[in-house]
Amino acid sequence: MKRILVTGSVGQIGSELVMELRNRLGNDNVLGTFHRTLPTEELTESGPMEKIRIQDVDDVARLVEEYDIDTVFNMAAILSAVGEQKPQLCWDVNMNGFINILEVAREKELRQVINPSSIAAFGPETPLQNTPNDTILKPKTMYGVTKVAGEILGDYYFHRYGLDVRGMRLPGIVSWKTPPGGGTTDYSVAIYYEAVQHRRYTCFVKEDTRLPLMYMPDCLNSMIDLAQAPLEDLIHHCDFNVTAFSNSPAEIAESIKGHYPDFEATYEPDFRQAIADSWPDSIDDSAARAEWGWDPEYNLEKMTVDMLETLERKFA
Ligand code: SER
Repeated sequence: MKRILVTGSVGQIGSELVMELRNRLGNDNVLGTFHRTLPTEELTESGPMEKIRIQDVDDVARLVEEYDIDTVFNMAAILSAVGEQKPQLCWDVNMNGFINILEVAREKELRQVINPSSIAAFGPETPLQNTPNDTILKPKTMYGVTKVAGEILGDYYFHRYGLDVRGMRLPGIVSWKTPPGGGTTDYSVAIYYEAVQHRRYTCFVKEDTRLPLMYMPDCLNSMIDLAQAPLEDLIHHCDFNVTAFSNSPAEIAESIKGHYPDFEATYEPDFRQAIADSWPDSIDDSAARAEWGWDPEYNLEKMTVDMLETLERKFA
């Protein structure tokens, strides 16, 4: 990967992935694209940023040509909670956007496409604990439907056209840079924001709702490490389980209380509870470990220390 396009580059992961790739490969070699939300100064001042409508294949083709792109990280997506409010938009962005990228990549013979999947690919029929990599995929959210379809579509382009498409099923990602947004796992971000600012948080899922989670530095490493893994080592392509730890909101609250004894969490579950309940408690990422050396660095406590320190600086 030499010249990279990151779609969805003002989003939670995209905004940090662009900066990480610019640090590693040079600012001018990483183009970020956005749709509605305007990019931060950090993004616009460090390298190229372009507005794009990912559902418009000509837009995608024009930028790939203009910037001589060889690799695409497709981070543009409508997440699970917003996706349940706007299912048709979720399909349009996540699927039509992705097939446009695949088509441009195929026609212009790009080196690689990375398209993250999610624990949302699983559903209530999937084994709940230590969910295997290869298992039942019957999601009950439109976001999950697009993630399963995306995994299968990516594998199709690999087998049918030899296009190197890869992806990992990300768990809930915790990070400090962008405010919590449209995902179900965003309570795990909001709890830290509220702890630092107000010492209290009302959580929209129940206290014992356990989900697989990961801190952003590990998330970025997982994406870049998978992108760089030798193709011949891979048995899977677009559907690697990756995880770091599994915890409930009550356990996150306990870990925050270790630093802020006056922190208080209360629980008022809303429609996102059903989404969280349809996802596994923990997932087995041994395929990622075996095929490309996946090995996360952060556990809950180490993440809590870093989140609180960083957010304290942000809101100082
Ligand atoms: N974080 C995502 C969501 O909650 C899951 O991939 O929608």
